Amino acid sequence: MTTPLPADDTPTPDDAALRSGCAGAPPLTARLEPWMRELLADPATCAGLLETYGSPLNVHEFSALARNAAELTAAATEAGVDLRIFVARKANKTLELVSSAREAGHGIDVGSHRELDQVLDLGVPAEEVVVTAAIKPRPLLQRALGSGSLLVLDNLDEAAAVDALVAGTAAPQHPVAVRLAPRPDQALAPTRFGESAATWRDWAARRDAAQDPLRIDGVHFHLHGYDVRTRAAALDEALELVDALRGQGHHPRFLDIGGGIPMSYLEDAEQWAAFWEAHDAPGATGPTWRGEPLRQVYPYHQQLVRGSWLRRLLAERTSSGSSVAEALRERGLELRCEPGRSVLDGCGMTLARVVQRTATSDGQALVGLEMNRTQCRSTSDDFLVDPLLVRTGGTPSEPFDAFLVGAYCIEAELIQRRRVRFPGGVAIGDVIALPNTAGYLMHILESASHQIPLASNVVRTATGEHHRDRIDAVSPLRPWDPARDG
Ligand SMILES: Cc1ncc(COP(=O)(O)O)c(C=O)c1O
Repeated sequence: MTTPLPADDTPTPDDAALRSGCAGAPPLTARLEPWMRELLADPATCAGLLETYGSPLNVHEFSALARNAAELTAAATEAGVDLRIFVARKANKTLELVSSAREAGHGIDVGSHRELDQVLDLGVPAEEVVVTAAIKPRPLLQRALGSGSLLVLDNLDEAAAVDALVAGTAAPQHPVAVRLAPRPDQALAPTRFGESAATWRDWAARRDAAQDPLRIDGVHFHLHGYDVRTRAAALDEALELVDALRGQGHHPRFLDIGGGIPMSYLEDAEQWAAFWEAHDAPGATGPTWRGEPLRQVYPYHQQLVRGSWLRRLLAERTSSGSSVAEALRERGLELRCEPGRSVLDGCGMTLARVVQRTATSDGQALVGLEMNRTQCRSTSDDFLVDPLLVRTGGTPSEPFDAFLVGAYCIEAELIQRRRVRFPGGVAIGDVIALPNTAGYLMHILESASHQIPLASNVVRTATGEHHRDRIDAVSPLRPWDPARDG
């Protein structure tokens, strides 16, 4: 059972050669974009890029973004629903992501003051920006209010802070949305974000829509997880809140379902099932480091992704019996979403240089990379996607099964927690490629501990040239500075 791939993901005859250098044991074969295949088939360029920009290196190519987002738009259009997409910047820090999202006609979701500043400085109009930062310090609130970007109010303290800032100002009404924390139940996990529908109803009831310096433009939620049914349940509750707000004289006109739209990193559902069989096999040492079980991992293979997932969501029944699409249409509501990971599918790859082949004192082979584990990490216990080996002409070791380890002085400094098979060995100077890392894996947890610099970020052009992304000039390591950030 293999999920159909988009046309340009079709494996080429050279695929087997590209993947012959290494594979997980058992394998979890990565989906590759054509640009990734091209680069991986060119060892001189891979090695040259690491020479020029250092190891590891994040290579980006954003042509898949428009295609990924178009899947969502097509599903909404088919259901007669107006959809606006705001690409979640927190998933990847490059400025090229912002430009690519804008070129594809989408807005930007920002998660911090610097993200907002950078987006506005790039000339993104304020009405194309949504501020969903989890914590919004005063300077961020001031910048959002001053620019006219839509603020998603997370909680009552934040709403009070905003009220204090706008009190007495003669500015036009400022657009806000309220963040709903849907009622938890067996399927819908509790969340630390947002307030209950009842809390927002009471808050809004005390405000006079005509006089209010804030204008409630929408209801927002973002759920952990990918399940269509729980999204539909949260959406149902959000629709009720929209109705209640309208009943109070407010005019919400959109419903924002946040991110968490699924994607697949793997080509083959059967491989995914086989991996878990091996992982759970009783008595076996298992495919992971020291046999340690993985607890919380991203579903690296999913049946419903992007367009098919949204189609299913829009067809779900609401409590009134109509479909989600009908309920949105009946109310004249625009649907919004803030996908990060799923629109970055196919947009990035991390390259790292092999520095050494060693073994633990009890004989477990290790391949040491010039990178650390925060440079390919998310909140998932592991990145369950096979790396690829690019041979650069050195003398390989004997064939072996090994673990990839990195530069931090920690015993379990594992780039991946999964055993990797090298049937032709590994040479010093070879390049390990971690495919499809643009969504979160490169940036969300990267650290510069031990004073090891963060990875460089380059963008690959349609003609195969590479240039540094401008984010690297805006060092994220600068400490807080009252003159700039206060
Ligand atoms: C409010 C909000 N919107 C959007 C996103 C993006 O989610 P994803 O990358 O899973 O699509 C997140 C991720 O944490 C979020 O917190």
